[in-house]
Amino acid sequence: MTNFEIRAKDGLARLGRFTTKHGTVKTPLLMPVIHPGKSIISPKDIVDVFGFQMVITNSYIINSHDKFREKAIAEGVHGLLDFEHPIMTDSGTFQMYFHDLPEEEIDPIAIIEFQKQIKTDIGTILDAFSKPDVGREQVEKDVKLSLERAKMSVGLKDEMMIAGTVQGGIFEDLREQSAQAMGKLDFDVYPIGGVVPMMEMYRYADIVRVTLAAKKHLPPDRPVHLFGCGHPMLFAQAALLGCDFFDSASYAKFAEKGRMLLTTGTVHLKDLTELPCECPVCSSTTASEMQGLPKEAKALALMRHNLYVSAAEMRRVRQAIADGKLFELAALRARSHPALLEALQVMTNKMDQLIESDPFGKSSSIFYTGAETAVRPEIYRFHDRVLSRYPFKTTDTIIIVPDIGERPFSDTASTIIAEVRKKRPEEVLLMFLTPMGVIPWELEHVHPAQQCIFPKNVDPQTLKIANTRLQEILDTITFNKIVWFDRESPTTKLSNSLTGNYKVTKTTSASETINQLGIIEEESTDWYLRKLRAVLMYQWGKNAGDVADIEGIKVVLSRSTGKIRHVTLQEEILFTVVPTTGLLTPTIKGGETLLQVNIDDTYLVMMEKDAAEFVAKGKSALAKFVKSASSNLKAGEEVLVLDEVENLLGTGKSLISGQEMITFNRGVAVQVRHSQKS
Ligand code: GUN
Ligand code: ZN
Repeated sequence: MTNFEIRAKDGLARLGRFTTKHGTVKTPLLMPVIHPGKSIISPKDIVDVFGFQMVITNSYIINSHDKFREKAIAEGVHGLLDFEHPIMTDSGTFQMYFHDLPEEEIDPIAIIEFQKQIKTDIGTILDAFSKPDVGREQVEKDVKLSLERAKMSVGLKDEMMIAGTVQGGIFEDLREQSAQAMGKLDFDVYPIGGVVPMMEMYRYADIVRVTLAAKKHLPPDRPVHLFGCGHPMLFAQAALLGCDFFDSASYAKFAEKGRMLLTTGTVHLKDLTELPCECPVCSSTTASEMQGLPKEAKALALMRHNLYVSAAEMRRVRQAIADGKLFELAALRARSHPALLEALQVMTNKMDQLIESDPFGKSSSIFYTGAETAVRPEIYRFHDRVLSRYPFKTTDTIIIVPDIGERPFSDTASTIIAEVRKKRPEEVLLMFLTPMGVIPWELEHVHPAQQCIFPKNVDPQTLKIANTRLQEILDTITFNKIVWFDRESPTTKLSNSLTGNYKVTKTTSASETINQLGIIEEESTDWYLRKLRAVLMYQWGKNAGDVADIEGIKVVLSRSTGKIRHVTLQEEILFTVVPTTGLLTPTIKGGETLLQVNIDDTYLVMMEKDAAEFVAKGKSALAKFVKSASSNLKAGEEVLVLDEVENLLGTGKSLISGQEMITFNRGVAVQVRHSQKS
């Protein structure tokens, strides 16, 4: 039984709900570290004043002080902290490492039993923390020891949830090994441990490497905790990597040293003439007033500031996931420190893993932030689908129209489009060339074609990628000549970088471009069916294109926008176009039509018998009742929900991937839009 459910995804990030005996919390979440004796901010205030949902404390510290231990045994850890919300406890691993305590200091079994005894919500195993730069052999030993202790501990958990930490130092293969072995054990949370020294040394790129290595093998239905990550400048990027839990001792430790945490880095109070922050603390005092406070009061003010800033950033991260904008937030934060930018670059070099998880069908705008934008998962996937699924592979002329940055971009080429409409695909194909790559005219309304906003000038790396993509698309099409509309645009100059042996004619005006097309025929009546075919294949693969050939199929245009609004057959609606994504949503009739043309199994989700009736009546398809789903299915796709004998129950949008549908026993798998009996 898992206690985690996913509501939305973005990159590898998950907007989730995690349920404990003391309530359900929203993830990603940050747990402030509470020291049972020393904390000057009460756990109650952590929730009521600062808006956190959960705290973490240390069972080793509680166990080593008589007064804490006795109270915790008598009243539970919740009584000790006077706190009614969820509590996680750590095991003392970090204290062993930090204070170099002897091996016998903590008994790994006794510390599990103690955490159970004090009724923590989530306990943690006594994992073996690898010191930085100890060498591979020692790290191997630590991984092995952590695993042995994990095996001894996990069976003892009873009612307590338990966290099993992945170790492996900076070695990606050891992280993979550790995650693979730990992932087979029934832990409720998977922390990634041993990263505190990397954080202290600004080795964020290493954190990206080891986190991605571990994520490959951890069960998708359990939260991942980045142990010891409490600096708000890291939250967006770490969440994008798929980390769900964070803990912060930093808010207190930095404050004690006179330092302020900001989303852009750390500043020292003594260096400030202004407080660069909008939190209630900074808004009600001045830098010099704060500097003049007695030591304790100063530390308290800074702690409160640090908590406000950290809580706000975590809220921002959750909102960004809901909006599909986390990549942008991470890119923005990466401008605060070169080590973070390097880490982002490492992430974009491992794009396959991000693309695997990133949901399809987002509708948000994509703002250019720099060279990383062109390799964002949404843009990468668009190019990939155009390459593999664009229907028209043979033509006479390809017109390339560079994007001048205005939206909608077809307005900037309306004269040319009017002429292209009179042609057939065998005669002419129209392609817009944007900094994200090629956008075939038929797919102009499909996200993110119109939603990518670039400045007039982009960096050379982006242009290089655009050029490669253009070349790749041209290589999939057989044609005689290119007509290149040479207008002022960031991508115009790419005509000089074409490496194929093409006949290219450059034109300087729309009329000159049209003149290259030869004699105008009668208006071709199938141009909108051509768009329909391209979108059908873009969404559901090759066979789906056959729907456009069905006798009597009709495209209904919106009167206000002139875009495709519905697709009908004998007066019945088969598909509706979502204006913000340009994608088709099938009705029941549309779903049946897709089944008739044998669309790819990727888009079929089969339910167990007991749940069929619910889905047929329009209820969501729950993950725990999914009988089978394709491992190729991504979150965000339009899918068909079937019963055990392949009758269509409903159509809707997958909220999680096919693999997640099989793994999860909580939450919604498919949000059903149309159903048989409603
Ligand atoms: N706190 C910070 N890092 C770690 C770690 O690697 N393991 C445990 N148990 N706690 C930590
Ligand atoms: Zn502040």
